[in-house]
Amino acid sequence: MASSIPNAPSALNCQSYVGLRSPQRSFNFCFPQAAKKSFPSRIFVVRASDSDFEAAVVAGKVPPAPPVPPKPVAPVGTPVVPSLPLHRRPRRNRKSPALRSAFQETSISPANFVYPLFIHEGEEDTPIGAMPGCYRLGWRHGLVEEVAKARDVGVNSIVLFPKIPDALKSPTGDEAYNENGLVPRTIRLLKDKYPDLVIYTDVALDPYSSDGHDGIVREDGVIMNDETVHQLCKQAVTQAQAGADVVSPSDMMDGRVGALRAALDAEGFQHVSIMSYTAKYASSFYGPFREALDSNPRFGDKKTYQMDPANYREALTEMREDESEGADILLVKPGLPYLDIIRLLRDNSPLPIAAYQVSGEYAMIKAAGALKMIDEEKVMMESLMCLRRAGADIILTYSALQAARCLCGERR
Ligand code: PBG
Repeated sequence: MASSIPNAPSALNCQSYVGLRSPQRSFNFCFPQAAKKSFPSRIFVVRASDSDFEAAVVAGKVPPAPPVPPKPVAPVGTPVVPSLPLHRRPRRNRKSPALRSAFQETSISPANFVYPLFIHEGEEDTPIGAMPGCYRLGWRHGLVEEVAKARDVGVNSIVLFPKIPDALKSPTGDEAYNENGLVPRTIRLLKDKYPDLVIYTDVALDPYSSDGHDGIVREDGVIMNDETVHQLCKQAVTQAQAGADVVSPSDMMDGRVGALRAALDAEGFQHVSIMSYTAKYASSFYGPFREALDSNPRFGDKKTYQMDPANYREALTEMREDESEGADILLVKPGLPYLDIIRLLRDNSPLPIAAYQVSGEYAMIKAAGALKMIDEEKVMMESLMCLRRAGADIILTYSALQAARCLCGERR
């Protein structure tokens, strides 16, 4: 609609906004008091006062101003119809960029993003096939550079996902709590370089498990809950010792939030937060992530611990447990296909809500963008805004850097 309005600003540009220009005084206008103080009386010029101007208008001497603009012409063939007797026309509030930005209900900023980063022992950055633009970053070089780039555009939170060498994987995932393992070492390096960086860690056994499951697998295929939680506590404490700010259990074992809280507190880590993957679904959208970490389950699936995508109310059960066990942040995963779950938690809990825009969501946008089927950046920005609108405070997204650059007005 903006195009049919004369002189409507064409783009979001503060300078061209109605009402944002600094007021300019008429040079014909002068206050006698002030003028007397600043000029010698012999060059004092008498000017018309407000009442003189008013009197002139009352006497019919109206000063000139631009004429009422002509009505914009409709294309030939436009039907001539009586206007609809509408009491409310919602388009009125959308007719210009200034109005639209005044009434925008949801906002998004780089501070809302948490940037998930894949790390490995190598020196090189290895591209991830199904996640164009994402790499397994060398923990000492590529990672540090990527963090610097993110901080440059206001993204100061990251979450680390390690690719562990096969030889260090085991059925009980003990490498997860090796204090000189890849994750603790990386945390120490990052905190040394960037003390104010907010570091989230993943708490789950899958990168360390020779079975590719988030927990210990019994010989009959059952994922052992309480024994796994014991391992997760050791993992989280090790991460906290290295300097992690927020530990994030993504394993979906029962009771792990309470156990982690107790374990952290017992070791003096009262200040370390827990972001619980509260509603994590057994989703096929995680495919590219598992490729990235080579962490596909060696057999079976994760349906005995991750939630059924068909379930809604069950998210409330998980939410209540996590709240009562002391979670600081509740996470929903995946993101866009699960907006109803984000809204459900938003409306039922006062805690901050996180949404995880997962690898499959990212891959779809990138693939369609590469094929020129969609405008990749616009679709990405819209998806992120929708996650915010649904109720997410923070968003874990592989697009964090690109989106933040876009928000900062940078184009690549
Ligand atoms: C595993 C974990 C997964 C993701 C984050 N942590 C995969 C899984 O549960 O199998 C997926 C993230 C993504 O797909 O982007 N603890």
